[in-house]
Amino acid sequence: MKRAVYPGSFDPVTLGHLDIIERAAALVDELIVGVLNNNAKTPLFSVEERVNMLRDVTAHIPNVRVESFSGLSVEFCRKCDASFLVRGLRAVTDFEYELQMAQTNRSLERGVDTLFFTTALNYAYISSTIVKEVAFYGGDISRFVPPQVAERIYDRICQMNQKTANGV
Ligand code: PNS
Repeated sequence: MKRAVYPGSFDPVTLGHLDIIERAAALVDELIVGVLNNNAKTPLFSVEERVNMLRDVTAHIPNVRVESFSGLSVEFCRKCDASFLVRGLRAVTDFEYELQMAQTNRSLERGVDTLFFTTALNYAYISSTIVKEVAFYGGDISRFVPPQVAERIYDRICQMNQKTANGV
């Protein structure tokens, strides 16, 4: 059984992530999307919300499973019995960090190799951070994220704005 883990924050999942999920799932028997439960960051969505959004947008891919994890990605791979870590490379600016991560992960766990996918050109400039920023200022994010995710982002921003207006 060829199994891979695609770890990330996915706050929220973008069309760039989804493109990588579809392509990686076609290469392996099972792809596990691992959503990092990272206490150090203040995400827009809770880890449960991120997992649910990912399950929703990957429901059409039968060999994809979505789980949350805490701690090291390679530990999560070991728990899932996965031999590959999947990561996307958008531009040269991603390269240094991704190389460092892949080499660290390989030295932590020799049984796990990182597979890099070059992001599709039309999604190469998209990041979750940029999507959130565009949405915060009322811009159109429909070509960056699936429609149900766009709706969730606008709803969350609306809730946050209401809280601010009420002084909460
Ligand atoms: O989507 P992101 O935020 O770029 O994903 C980064 C992620 C989650 C893959 C990375 O931060 C990670 O693997 N974190 C878990 C802790 C870990 O394993 N660190 C060692 C890698 S150097």
